[in-house]
Amino acid sequence: MKRALLALCLLAACKPAPSAVVAFADRATAVAKVNVAETGPKLAVETVTVYEPYELREVAFSGVPANALLDSVYGDKWRKAEALSLIALDGYTSTVPVSRFLAHKAWFAFARTDRADFALDKKVPKVETVSIAPVYLVWDSAKDAAIRAEGDYGWPYQLANVKLTTFADAFPGLAPPEPGTPESAVGFELFTRYCATCHSLDGHGGKVGPELNAPHNVTEYWQPQWLHQWIDNPQSIRKGTAMPGMPAQVPERQKAIANVIAYLKAMTHGQ
Ligand code: HEC
Repeated sequence: MKRALLALCLLAACKPAPSAVVAFADRATAVAKVNVAETGPKLAVETVTVYEPYELREVAFSGVPANALLDSVYGDKWRKAEALSLIALDGYTSTVPVSRFLAHKAWFAFARTDRADFALDKKVPKVETVSIAPVYLVWDSAKDAAIRAEGDYGWPYQLANVKLTTFADAFPGLAPPEPGTPESAVGFELFTRYCATCHSLDGHGGKVGPELNAPHNVTEYWQPQWLHQWIDNPQSIRKGTAMPGMPAQVPERQKAIANVIAYLKAMTHGQ
């Protein structure tokens, strides 16, 4: 008898379920708070099986379709916005272009179907179990090869805040000067996604790799073909370098590298 009670406790009953509340904003203005587990009949909960990029296997989640939820919060407005910042409980922010939501399916997940706690047994980048409550944004990676190829990009867990934004607002100091070119605009977005985690321009960005714009821009002192080759395949220039290069799955990769270089060039002081 005692044992049966304990088992029940472990399954669900004894801990109050943490509420799956996400706060939505339009830039600095609060718009709504939504408990994604209790959205009512208009926004039905679905069970979705995805290829989970941290456990590296298929996992089933309960969640609500992201685009329908965003429609219910923002109306049409979010579809014309540039980007969504997805902010975790600890403030960790990933900024994803709205176009990704329009082209692929995602869900705001609040539970797993195979275990009671809302957690992941991560295999990468290291073995650890982490809580992913209140909400985890998951994508259609079991069916959508393009999404699956991008690994954990755009899968924030412990998601607590969603904000409509622009890349210029989300990455202050990194936007190219106006008027830009289409190449530098695309290059800016690529740089924020693939490079700014490690590199800074004028001190804005990551600190793992060298600063690339102060006092001189890297395009001023690297010959163009060597710079392109470096971003394409750093090991082909410097054996054992810690720099990873443009990821293999990036669509139209050579063009993407050229666009990043156009962006870097546009950031040169005195241009
Ligand atoms: C995981 C961190 C990391 C990422 C991501 C990264 N880099 Fe690097 N990068 C480095 C490190 C570390 C070095 C120094 C490597 C060395 O000297 O061997 C470096 C060096 C460079 C250099 C040479 C700078 C100089 O003056 O010598 C350039 C240019 C560069 N990276 C551009 C890029 C671009 C563009 C991207 C995005 C496509 C990128 N990096 C992504 C870590 C990174």
